[in-house]
Amino acid sequence: MTIGDLSAMWEIVGDDETMYAWNGAWSEQENIDGLEKQICGYLENGFGRWAVVLKETGRVIGMCGPMWWDTDADRVLEIGYLFNRAFWHNGYAAEAAIACKRYTFDVLGYDEVFSLIRDNNYASMNVAIRNGMLVRGRYTKHYKGEDMPHYIFSVRK
Ligand SMILES: CC(C)(COP(=O)(O)OP(=O)(O)OC[C@H]1O[C@@H](n2cnc3c(N)ncnc32)[C@H](O)[C@@H]1OP(=O)(O)O)[C@@H](O)C(=O)NCCC(=O)NCCS
Repeated sequence: MTIGDLSAMWEIVGDDETMYAWNGAWSEQENIDGLEKQICGYLENGFGRWAVVLKETGRVIGMCGPMWWDTDADRVLEIGYLFNRAFWHNGYAAEAAIACKRYTFDVLGYDEVFSLIRDNNYASMNVAIRNGMLVRGRYTKHYKGEDMPHYIFSVRK
């Protein structure tokens, strides 16, 4: 992603329904901060959430990629995904997540990847299951003053 993807990202993170697992839409400032965090992450780690581009049109329809994330106990490499609601239910999230898992194993050389998923987010759990993941545990994410129970999914190489 580049800062030029701000409006494509805003279509996603500015939408209440898409962001239900975060209790609703982000503000425009949170969108800018989120994109900057990803771009800084690329420089720091060499990877992060990447733009998902529809090959037919070149349109940015989502983001997916590995990112370091702290649970209560560990720091894990997490594959996250977030898609424009207009493009859900086409298999894109599963396709992107599987490709990111392979990249993490085969190119980055890690032997386990995780997805951390809120306990009410069945769509995301189904993507993780499609990605070959199983539930390994639970943790509580502390976000905007709320405790949000999450499942720790992972798949090993
Ligand atoms: C989660 C999300 C990325 C799924 O995107 P998608 O492109 O529609 O997913 P896919 O089409 O690849 O579907 C993958 C699996 O999830 C299932 N699925 C998709 N949406 C679903 C829903 N709303 N409820 C239940 N299952 C769902 C599909 O049936 C499919 O399962 P199958 O392969 O067994 O048929 C999308 O809903 C999204 O962006 N949600 C908001 C952001 C989010 O919560 N991200 C995850 C944070 S942990």
